[in-house]
Amino acid sequence: MRLRAPATSANLGPGFDVFGMALKEPYDLVEAEKLPEKVVQLELVEGYPIPLKPEENTGGYVALEMMNDFDIRGGVKFRIWKNIKPGSGLGSSAATAAAAAYAMNKLYDLGLSTSELVEYAARGELVSAGAAHVDNVASAIYGGFIIISSRNPLRIYSVTPPSDLGVVVVLPDVEKGSTRRAREVLPSSIPLQKLVHNVGAASVLAAGMALGDLEMIKEGMRDAVVEPARSGAGIIPEYEGVRELGRRFGAGIAVSGAGPAVIAVIERERRGKLATALKDFYQSRGYECLVYVTEPGPGVSEF
Ligand code: HSE
Repeated sequence: MRLRAPATSANLGPGFDVFGMALKEPYDLVEAEKLPEKVVQLELVEGYPIPLKPEENTGGYVALEMMNDFDIRGGVKFRIWKNIKPGSGLGSSAATAAAAAYAMNKLYDLGLSTSELVEYAARGELVSAGAAHVDNVASAIYGGFIIISSRNPLRIYSVTPPSDLGVVVVLPDVEKGSTRRAREVLPSSIPLQKLVHNVGAASVLAAGMALGDLEMIKEGMRDAVVEPARSGAGIIPEYEGVRELGRRFGAGIAVSGAGPAVIAVIERERRGKLATALKDFYQSRGYECLVYVTEPGPGVSEF
């Protein structure tokens, strides 16, 4: 079985651990093959380095968990083309975890529902982030835009983003450290005023997705809680400058997941100019960067 596993962007500003969106590019390729013996094997064919011990790899861990829970006699081999940079804020670990859950379900005919697949894939996030947050894996499985309205029990709403929604992702060449650390710097309580700000922003963003209104989506991409905390901890380089650039272009700007990647939402036909401006901006501040001119995309799929 050959799978495409998409990059995903969590939070989109105010929706910490609640909002996520699958991107058309970049994506990983994963080949999954049944093995007769009860073992999980991982091979990196190409791309960024990843852990290859099954219990340390998000996909390997998910496969082991599913093999145990369903008393599966056989095993699985994954061959991975890792195009999504780990630790970038683009759901690299989630892509592998989602592909593994999808593949095990199909290869061993487990008949799991979409939300059960998300639960399994989320166990992979425990390996990388130390918390089973589901925004990236849910986006990677459902595709499009998702809202996690409740974690326990898991409740996910999926909305197709408007067709004119264009995305530019910039990934500056800096190490942010682990997602675990990016979560440790967050406040444990927040002032009511910031709650009001974020509820307003999240509401207009979600309504914009549902109504197909790009301006509402852009307006909603502002966060008074998580992004400032991460920026203050030095995890998001040039945060204020990049937001200012977004304002000038009339684009929505947010930190993608725990960063350091930044996601910009803009009309599809204006993506090219924004991409150039973002790249120039980071380079002028001394950062090399990767830029993806992309759009919302489907979840894990066979090809
Ligand atoms: N919602 C998570 C966070 C996503 O911001 O920590 C991590 O990719």
